[in-house]
Amino acid sequence: MLVTQQPVLRRFWYPVIPMARLNDGPKPFRLLNQDLVLWLDSQGKPQVAEDRCAHRSAKLSLGWVDGDNIVCPYHGWNYDGTGACKKIPQTPDRPASRVKVPAFHADERYGYVWVCLGDPVTGIPEMPEAKEPGYRMFHQFHEVWRTAGLRLMENSFDNAHFSFVHRESFGQYDKPIPADLNIEEGEYGFRFETKAPVNNPESQKKLLKMDSDTTVRHMTSNWYMPFGRRLNISYPNGLVHSIVTYATPIDDEHSMICQWAFRSDSEEDAPEAEIIAFDRQVTEEDKRVLESTDYDVPLDTASGEEKHMPSDQPGMVMRKMMKALLERFGESEARSDHARIPVKQEKAS
Ligand code: FES
Ligand code: CO
Repeated sequence: MLVTQQPVLRRFWYPVIPMARLNDGPKPFRLLNQDLVLWLDSQGKPQVAEDRCAHRSAKLSLGWVDGDNIVCPYHGWNYDGTGACKKIPQTPDRPASRVKVPAFHADERYGYVWVCLGDPVTGIPEMPEAKEPGYRMFHQFHEVWRTAGLRLMENSFDNAHFSFVHRESFGQYDKPIPADLNIEEGEYGFRFETKAPVNNPESQKKLLKMDSDTTVRHMTSNWYMPFGRRLNISYPNGLVHSIVTYATPIDDEHSMICQWAFRSDSEEDAPEAEIIAFDRQVTEEDKRVLESTDYDVPLDTASGEEKHMPSDQPGMVMRKMMKALLERFGESEARSDHARIPVKQEKAS
């Protein structure tokens, strides 16, 4: 599936940039190949429009904010959050409002600006930890990976990769068979619960307040179609570490990885920086492998293009549901002949 060729994907909400990054002025973002400018209006609400001035195509993200409006850096035309041009400084007596740039839906949730490029088919997912008392929330990662959103999502629910990808952090190399799981499908996602025995490296023992070399994670996994997941991990001592990861689609090959965490303990128990450092190690292990995969993930699981095993079930359900989504919206899957990542040649020494 080529994400930029499936219009229905424009009808979902994606986190794009932490709100705090807009405090010092407008910022650009490319979402599904659409160049956007994001800014905060005078109420502190996020606004989003196409990053291209209607006059001479300059990038509005190089401009600045005046009241509620974004000001083009080239000749100072002003646009509001609906994309309407409110002022052309060179012709103050003539109405500017016939001029418009495309504008889109923007909202704020979990400290992020969320954007939807079309008519939303579903809302921004509710995260129960955000409402329950006793949880802190903090941002972990906001970075570009050369991988498809669907690859990252499948990896998030694939417990067969722990023993191999994460053998140096928490995976148990000699226990490669993951536990069974039972997927409950919803209209725009799924959920399942499972258990996984994992290793407890020294850094984790301290953060989890556990002495044993191994422990069992009780995991509740939620998939938010198309490219979001929440992994709620509870440990035998009652500690909950819940991570939300979005692979916001930049273009067919690249995703913006947005990850934040909810924790049931306090900063004194486990400093944010140390939790992020461990999750960074784990994430780097995933990144290395995911960036080696083809970015055009085939939704047709029977084509023989990729081979499967029983533990691939979440990914298989995901592909089935994505295929059904496209059909429901009258689309067929777009494919590429050029989806392979070119092999990097070592330089002869
Ligand atoms: Fe934007 Fe001229 S290009 S005002
Ligand atoms: Co992983």
